[in-house]
Amino acid sequence: MTAVTARAHTNIALVKYWGKADTELMLPQTSSLSLTLDQFYTDTTVSFDDSLTSDDVVINDQRLAPAASVKVSHVLDLVRQQSGETRFAHVASMNHVPTSAGLASSASAFAALAGAASRAAGLNQSRTELSRLARRGSGSATRSIFGGFVKWQAGTDDASSVAIPIQEDVTWPIAMVALVLDPHHKKVSSTQGMQSSVTTSPYYPAWKQVVAEDLAAITPAILAQDFTTTGEILEANAMRMHALTLSANPPYSYFNGETLAAIATVQALRDSGIACYYTLDAGPNLKVFCQEKDLGAVTTRLASQFSADQVIVAHPGPGIAFL
Ligand code: PMV
Repeated sequence: MTAVTARAHTNIALVKYWGKADTELMLPQTSSLSLTLDQFYTDTTVSFDDSLTSDDVVINDQRLAPAASVKVSHVLDLVRQQSGETRFAHVASMNHVPTSAGLASSASAFAALAGAASRAAGLNQSRTELSRLARRGSGSATRSIFGGFVKWQAGTDDASSVAIPIQEDVTWPIAMVALVLDPHHKKVSSTQGMQSSVTTSPYYPAWKQVVAEDLAAITPAILAQDFTTTGEILEANAMRMHALTLSANPPYSYFNGETLAAIATVQALRDSGIACYYTLDAGPNLKVFCQEKDLGAVTTRLASQFSADQVIVAHPGPGIAFL
């Protein structure tokens, strides 16, 4: 019984994935693009064991009930199909996300699971193949296989829906500051939220157009280290994603009262000459994109308005590693 441990970092989407085209294969409606972050990661160890009668999943030292580990077993089933492995597995996973940071761990978790399970089953898969496997657990996990700036190419089938590194070693002196406003679990899951946006928002066709344009414009901006263009695109893209929640039927929002106050703070910082831009995922917490030279000013301002322990500084992070 070989135990394999993999480490994967989470990522923040700069051009968001918001809608599935195929819920079984987890094919997205559009491509997306993210930055892998150094601060938040998951370590997952997998070993197949013939004494088990079902998969045994322990997350942060808590053993999951079988009903709660369905998504994990789904990924393990795919690995078993591909490898011929017939045994159930022990999965032990630790999320290294600052406590109650309220930051999604599904991206790092499913990327680490895909890597560890694939190796433990004796598969020698490329990172592209691992991204394809991670996708089946959580869409955003597709991108966490690679470091730095990563595109998830929507593709048209299982084989073509994979992550593509845009730039793994990032030398650009930029930072992503997480502002944690509410550490609790989101009320509307990303899966539910996406589905309602796709099926009920009249703006959904426009969103697909927006994503195509944003991807075409942000990629050269990143490679040219054009901070203003990159920032303007990621901020507008996030707000347009959130416009899909407001325009769904029934309408809903991931924002809370403090979200709007924090957005106003970022705008005020910008008006005072400190260039910074915000983005938000399926929750109320902001991530503020800034240049290293302005990091002190940004964190000081956010910590004075909120509190220092709500402010976490992240930088570009690496792709999957085996420990
Ligand atoms: O794949 P999920 O369920 O983690 O959904 C990700 C959704 C967003 O974080 C809002 C956008 C994204 O591209 O990561």
